[in-house]
Order: sequence, then structure tokens, then C-alpha cells
Amino acid sequence: MPKRHALVSGHRGFIGAHLVGQLRDAGYRVTGVDLGYFDGCEWTTPPSPDTEWRRDVRALTPADLDGVDVVCHLAAISNDPMGDLDPGLTDAVNRGGTIHLARVAKAAGVKRFLFASSCSVYGKVDDDATEDAPLNPLSAYARSKIDAESQLLELADSSFSPVFLRNATAFGHSPMLRIDLVANNLLASAVACGSVRVLTDGSPWRPLVHCADIARAFVAIADAPRERTHAMALNIGADTMNFRVRDIAERVGALVPAAPLSFSDTATIDPRDYRVSFARFARLFPDFRLAYDLDRGLEELLGAFRRTGFTQADFDGPRFVRLRTLKARLTPASAS
Ligand SMILES: NC(=O)c1ccc[n+]([C@@H]2O[C@H](COP(=O)([O-])OP(=O)(O)OC[C@H]3O[C@@H](n4cnc5c(N)ncnc54)[C@H](O)[C@@H]3O)[C@@H](O)[C@H]2O)c1
Repeated sequence: MPKRHALVSGHRGFIGAHLVGQLRDAGYRVTGVDLGYFDGCEWTTPPSPDTEWRRDVRALTPADLDGVDVVCHLAAISNDPMGDLDPGLTDAVNRGGTIHLARVAKAAGVKRFLFASSCSVYGKVDDDATEDAPLNPLSAYARSKIDAESQLLELADSSFSPVFLRNATAFGHSPMLRIDLVANNLLASAVACGSVRVLTDGSPWRPLVHCADIARAFVAIADAPRERTHAMALNIGADTMNFRVRDIAERVGALVPAAPLSFSDTATIDPRDYRVSFARFARLFPDFRLAYDLDRGLEELLGAFRRTGFTQADFDGPRFVRLRTLKARLTPASAS
């Protein structure tokens, strides 16, 4: 039997670097397409797909998707601060690029479209947000994900099945490391700077999920019968992984006791504060278990930081902080 063919957009990103290897291990032929915003920022060498294109998803045509069974669409301006840098670009890539790719995929006869959405769509909530909770976008990034979901829904029919993976905040080790995500940032600070300074009182809630577990959820959904997830939003994570920022900092403090912890009195500088219910994903995928809890993910990353000698210069530089690299990429050379 021929291998199933998956196209992964954003395969040279933090999550994509896990997804390529996992899809190949699961027996897929993988085509990766990525603009390469973070080329040169590799921490270790990411796995190669079978075919690799350095292209903008907005330039793909139906012919490019000929023979593809499933699209895993990760390419994006990938967090709230980056989204605020240029809201027009955020909309153009995160909504416009998603809908363009979905349209060309549908025209090419691709049946499944797995979209990397985000729990950021919930913004600030009092109760654990289910997929039916009111959406409350507090940034251009969150708005772009909501708009992409609703326009994707209009394309759903008996031949084309989109799914919206509303991922919790990712953390952990990846060949395309990011330290601009809360748990990774706090651990990186402990290792590189010898202290952990939380810029708030640490009270906001944030659900976490390891980047490799997000990739595993993509594979599980790609492998599942289409009816199970057709035109549906799914929160990706686990109920046991809702933390206050303070809890995350304290876990980091326990792992790196030499690094003193401090908090400020400010309630928050980032208005997002949400706990999320992952009951729907657990019900639809009862055999799926996260491979990483917070401690295991932090311990693995700490080991990797120590092996590679992660430094203050690494912490302060652009290589592992998407916003800093993107800013430099979007600034014309003549302006620098
Ligand atoms: N990391 C998280 O905590 C998190 C949480 C929820 C959702 N998500 C979503 O998951 C996806 C992947 O996140 P990540 O952390 O791996 O991000 P990342 O920034 O590490 O990777 C995104 C990749 O997309 C590529 N890209 C951007 N615009 C492109 C375009 N127009 N054409 C082709 N490639 C393009 C970039 O070059 C980059 O390699 C994103 O859609 C993000 O919004 C991430």
C-alpha cells in the first residue's frame, strides 16, 4: 500500500520539528513547507521531511498539493507579542494564509486539514473554558486564529474536513528551541542568569502542553476516522496541566535551587488568564496519554541546557526568541 502523504506547513518551527519525525515514524511520506523565518536559529538539527520547500504557504497552488492526504497547518506568526508587531501581517498570514492553503488543498482533493489554533482564543475566563465557551480575543494573534477557524468552517463539507487544534501553551525541548514561552523562559533564566524574575505576582492561569505532545495529538487526529473530529474545535492538553505562573516558577525553583525566585506586586502585564477543560479531547481519544507532565518536560530541558552550556548570551540574544528574530527579519537592512 502506498504511504499516506502529509504536508506540514511551518515544519521548521518549534512544534513542526517534532511533527515531521513523528509523522515519518507513523508511516507517512512528509512534505514540509516553511518560509524559513527562523533558519539559522536551530538548537540541534531538526529531522528532514522527504520533500522540503522554502516557500510561503500563500503562494502554493492546487498542483503543489496533488496526492496529499492530510495537511497539518502550523505556519503562522506564532504568539501574541509577535502578532502585535504587525497586526496586518498577522491577519494576512494567520487568517489569509490559512484560508488560501485550505482552498488550494480542497481544490486538490485533500480530505483532511488540521489547523494549529490556540487556547489564546479564550483570553480571560473565570471557569475552565470548554470549546463552547465564549471566545475573547485579547490580541491580533488570537483574533487571527478565531477568524481562520470560522472561515475554515465555511469550507467544511463531505469532501473536506477541517479540525481546529486549540493548543495549550507549549513548552519543552525541541530542535527549534523557543525560550519565549513561559515555562521555557523561566527555566532558561534560572540556568543562564542564575535567578528567576517573574514580572507579575504570578497569579494568572495558563494551561501547558509539551511541544512533542502537540505533535502526537496531530498524528492521532490524522490517523482517526474523519467523522470523529469533522469541523470541530478540540482543546489540546490535559486537565492536570492548568497552572498558575507562580506554580510553574516554583517548579523551576525546585529544579534549580541555586536560582532565587522573585515576583513583582503587579497583578499582570499580560491580560490573558485562562484555565481550560480538555475533556472533549480525552473523551474522543481515550487511549491518548500525554508523554510529558511539567516536571518531566522541565527535567529533560534542563539536562539539555546543561549539556549544551546554555549561556546568558543565548538568553539575551535573538536566536531562541521569535519576536527578536522576526523583528530583525522584517526590518529592511538599510534601516539597521
Ligand atoms: N508554541 C505554542 O505555545 C503554541 C500554542 C498554541 C498554538 N500554537 C500554534 O502552533 C503553530 C506552530 O507554533 P510554533 O511554536 O512551532 O511556532 P514557530 O514560530 O516556532 O514556527 C512557525 C513556523 O512557521 C513558519 N512560517 C511563518 N509564516 C509562514 C508562511 N507565510 N509560509 C510558510 N511558513 C511560514 C516560520 O518560518 C516558522 O518556522 C502556530 O500556528 C502557532 O500559532 C503554538
